[in-house]
Amino acid sequence: MGRAMRGGTCVIVATLLLAGASVACHHENAWPEGSPQTEDEQLAQDTWRNRCSECHGKFGEGNGPTAHTLKAKPRNFTDPEWQKSEKDEELEAVILLGGAAMGYSAEMPPNPDLNKHPNVAPLLVKKIRSLDRSRPR
Ligand code: HEC
Repeated sequence: MGRAMRGGTCVIVATLLLAGASVACHHENAWPEGSPQTEDEQLAQDTWRNRCSECHGKFGEGNGPTAHTLKAKPRNFTDPEWQKSEKDEELEAVILLGGAAMGYSAEMPPNPDLNKHPNVAPLLVKKIRSLDRSRPR
């Protein structure tokens, strides 16, 4: 019951305190575990849902609706070994610059519009990290 209660409290606090609230909520139930509390988190969630999961799948298993049309199959982001082998900065660079620029498949598109929102690529990395199946949830 703890988790759900705290989530509810968080939303109430966010509504009351607006600006300060997102900071207050970040140590617990922050997105992607909780719901988005900031514009950047909302944008990251929308981007994951509308763009990334198309290929990578909602849960990052590499099985999105268009994955079967790709020559290079998106890898499984839930794999703890893969997670350990990748640095945050590298994942961020692939997201912003695209696969071709970073030695991966050109089918992984660049996302230059995210440069306007510098917190969003790191938040997408956070989302990818949260998909690691060895993480407690
Ligand atoms: C059109 C399909 C497609 C879309 C849309 C897409 N990707 Fe990819 N992505 C790929 C493919 C194919 C690869 C290369 C194979 C691999 O490494 O998984 C890749 C690779 C990656 C990698 C590098 C994986 C590694 O091994 O280092 C990351 C990180 C990534 N994508 C994140 C994202 C994020 C975040 C989004 C949304 C902003 C996104 N992708 C959108 C197809 C896609």
